[in-house]
Amino acid sequence: MPDIDGIKEAKNFYIDIPQKSEGFFLKGCGSLDWGIKNRLSRIFNPATGRTVMLAIDHGYFQGPTTGLERVDINILPLVPYADTLMLTRGILRSVVPASTRKAIVLRVSGGASILKELSNEDIAVDIEESIRLNVCAMAVQVFIGGEFEKESIINMTRMVDIGNRYGIPVLAVTAVGKDMARDAKYFQLACRICAELGAHYIKTYYVDKDFDTVTSSCPVPIVMAGGKKIPELDALTMACNAIQQGASGVDMGRNIFQSDAPVAMIQAVGAVVHENMKPKEALKLYNSLKKKK
Ligand code: R5P
Repeated sequence: MPDIDGIKEAKNFYIDIPQKSEGFFLKGCGSLDWGIKNRLSRIFNPATGRTVMLAIDHGYFQGPTTGLERVDINILPLVPYADTLMLTRGILRSVVPASTRKAIVLRVSGGASILKELSNEDIAVDIEESIRLNVCAMAVQVFIGGEFEKESIINMTRMVDIGNRYGIPVLAVTAVGKDMARDAKYFQLACRICAELGAHYIKTYYVDKDFDTVTSSCPVPIVMAGGKKIPELDALTMACNAIQQGASGVDMGRNIFQSDAPVAMIQAVGAVVHENMKPKEALKLYNSLKKKK
């Protein structure tokens, strides 16, 4: 029996104070459902509107990549400095402690390996798994211009439909095939197609020329993909340029975990992303953290 005797009369109605109606901090996401916004707010830091995603999902098509041979030894020490981990359910379950409070972006497309045609992917994870694993977003590879372009687009749109049903955002990852031009025109096309078809945010590559036209013509947030390992200053410069030209964060893998000092590098990337630190200053930070280690 609930205690209903002596209930205090409600009287603090603040009639003169209108209820606040807050906007949402991420571009193009204001009309999304509460659950999707809440999950995006765990991926992107609401204080800066940006994210440092650590991508360690490479094994899903290329096996034990350099730096990822032992995720328990090489990657877990980096986790405190990331906002978000992007990975497969296999590594999540087998290596990442369930006590983590980091946002998880789960790789849900797959089915191809480096031995065959990479664009030949399908959806490789049931929605029930994403719910069970309490993920903040599901990542699907989209191969615009690739051999299995249509199939990869449909993989993404299917996941958007399912994600909208359950309140889980979809990250579209624009993959570039060997023969595709890596220029602003291509990435404008790829990102815009993904956004038009419902992706909640998009991972794409940085290009030196006109990257701002890629971000400005994409109605939802873009995170910059890292790509192959380059010198630390170049990677920090690339991240800085992408952020200054409208990216809402980075999703970097090899340029962090293949660095000489990954723990220092992820902190330097974090300073560029969240504090607008300039590349040379971030390199100094990297070097000083590297020495301390
Ligand atoms: C490929 O497109 C996957 O998402 C990668 O496995 C990963 O996210 C790439 O990260 P990075 O290019 O920064 O090593």
